[in-house]
Amino acid sequence: MDLFASQDVQDKIRHLTARLHHLNYQYYQNDVSEVSDQEFDHMLRELQQLEKQYPEYAQPNSPTQRVGGTITKQFPTQEHRFPMLSLANTYSEADLREFDERVQRGLEGAEYAYVCELKFDGVAMSLRYENGQLSQGVTRGDGTRGDVVTSNVRTIKTLPLALHAPAGGAPVPADFEVRGEIFMPLGVFNDLNAEREQNGEALLANPRNAASGTLKLQDSAQVAARRLRFYAYSFLSTGRHFPTHSAALEALKSWGLPVSDTWRKAASIEGVLEFIHHWEKRRFELPVATDGIVIKVDDLRQQELLGYTAKSPRWAIAYKYPAEAGRTRLNDIIYQVGRTGAVTPVALLDPVPLAGTVVKRASVHNANQIAALDLRLGDMVFVEKGGEIIPKITGVDRSARPADAVPIVYPTACPACGTPLVRPEGEAHFRCPNERGCAPQLKSKLEHYVSRKALNIDGLGAETVGRFFDLGLVRDAADLYDLPQRREELVNLERLGEKSVQRMFLGLEQSKEVPFDRVLFGLGIRYVGETVAEKLAAHYRSIDPILSASVDELAAVPEVGGVIAESVALWAQDEANRQLVERLRAAGVQLQLTGEAPQPLSDRLNGLTFVLSGVFEQHSREELEQVIVRNGGKVTGSISKKLSYLVAGDKMGPAKREKATTLKVPIIGETELLAMVSDGGL
Ligand code: IVH
Repeated sequence: MDLFASQDVQDKIRHLTARLHHLNYQYYQNDVSEVSDQEFDHMLRELQQLEKQYPEYAQPNSPTQRVGGTITKQFPTQEHRFPMLSLANTYSEADLREFDERVQRGLEGAEYAYVCELKFDGVAMSLRYENGQLSQGVTRGDGTRGDVVTSNVRTIKTLPLALHAPAGGAPVPADFEVRGEIFMPLGVFNDLNAEREQNGEALLANPRNAASGTLKLQDSAQVAARRLRFYAYSFLSTGRHFPTHSAALEALKSWGLPVSDTWRKAASIEGVLEFIHHWEKRRFELPVATDGIVIKVDDLRQQELLGYTAKSPRWAIAYKYPAEAGRTRLNDIIYQVGRTGAVTPVALLDPVPLAGTVVKRASVHNANQIAALDLRLGDMVFVEKGGEIIPKITGVDRSARPADAVPIVYPTACPACGTPLVRPEGEAHFRCPNERGCAPQLKSKLEHYVSRKALNIDGLGAETVGRFFDLGLVRDAADLYDLPQRREELVNLERLGEKSVQRMFLGLEQSKEVPFDRVLFGLGIRYVGETVAEKLAAHYRSIDPILSASVDELAAVPEVGGVIAESVALWAQDEANRQLVERLRAAGVQLQLTGEAPQPLSDRLNGLTFVLSGVFEQHSREELEQVIVRNGGKVTGSISKKLSYLVAGDKMGPAKREKATTLKVPIIGETELLAMVSDGGL
């Protein structure tokens, strides 16, 4: 490329970068859309393309980092320049007054004021900005060292990658840290859990766990999809920039950093108590989970004077709200049957206000828990919100047990279809085995098939398929494609009409273009979530080899363990499932991946099998799997005598090493594996 063209490219990249930064700032900080989403995406894609072509000109803080894509195999750790301390906790007003007295004594009668903030329940994060650019994000870790998770932090859309001081305002220091809390908004958390429930995956306990799990994901594109947010609550730097903490908060906000507007100054401890009472109930209206408030002495010189104990500052304290618990009557237990037949007891309660909502139902997990709590109908029970989200029964008020309280007899037959329930060994849930005839199971399978992450059929939502099922119009996914033959019946249904029917037919037609991996996910095979479906589709490329694969073969596919493999094989053996596949095929649904399969690179690893274990330095595990497969080798999950090599990374468990040694399976490292294929690497 000649010099002029190179200059053009650099200019173009710089221009697009600046423009996109500006548009992001307007959108996320000022709620202003200067261009359409389409125009924005177009510019972003153009920049992505240029950066891919000319990586030497890409800027580290490019707006393209927002969409993620960086894979970090192992997060490096780093020492904090200023240790990340914790706060002393109190649960009572009396404790708070004592804290105030200690502050008063420490300041020897000088005037002082507090800043009250909400205590956000997420993950503490330290961000470094150098020359106005976000340069690093480090987790709290043990307070002294944390994990460097910069590429994941960059995906947080409300977090500016570049800061600007407003005209006449406080300038942005050349090098400083801002600390705050990364959290998952409650709405996002609820969506995520609803999705996991649909897929039969374990639910996340609370938004804090969800946020911290998300930050540790290796693939920043997945992090971007989780829509995390950040609230700043302290400024740290060498030298003195502000007289007070409140001035620092205002400056952070003026530079474009997200600071929650909930903080207030309080002239005395009475003002602090008012703040506490003000937020006690209102906090549940916020998009973020909070578990208390934080009180800080406002004047930074006074903070210095008060100093620190070994663990926490003497100038601040956290007040924790009591865990919201309610006491109410247990009226009944109903039993819900899920997509995979799992039966879950749900408690029906006298309505009780709890953590911002009125609770009428609570989960009781399973039969074991009913026995452990010795629950009886009519009992007064205690309910709490686990992480203040999902209410659960935590205990029984035995002293209030009415004489006529009825012991709970767990059903032995499915509440929906009457089939005797089974409880597979090692599982907590009873299950209805009547997959083909049990209405709630069939219905939720249909709902799953049309859902957004699966076939995403426009004009055909959960409610409509449920209704069609009840009317006997459809029983399984393949029946949906026969609906166009029943047009007359459909247009005459109440609340449907010509227009919606037309839209639904179009949606059905379009669903025939949905790629195979999502169809596979949509089939609702137990344990086959989105990721597993993707892996299976990428490996086999079509449904037919999946239907004929053995458990061992399936278990050898990356990310597919023994339990999943067995579930898939069991599903494939079932004649009714095979018929369903054939009917979907006849309807024109995608049962194979289109597009080119990755070309084999060599046959150097023909006949060899590998187990990959631990964390690798140069490549991610997936990349290494690709190296093996594309050079003719096979990757499997378990160590046996027949295994050719165990490829050991960092942090491999000792049991694996021992097993390989006993079975005389050679153990090699990443470098040796790459050497085996030399120029055949990726
Ligand atoms: S100030 C010296 N302010 O609470 C301590 N912390 O134990 C400086 N937290 O994990 C912390 N909201 O992440 C402060 N408004 C707030 C906070 C807050 C939540 C978290 C923080 C830390 C824990 C402190």
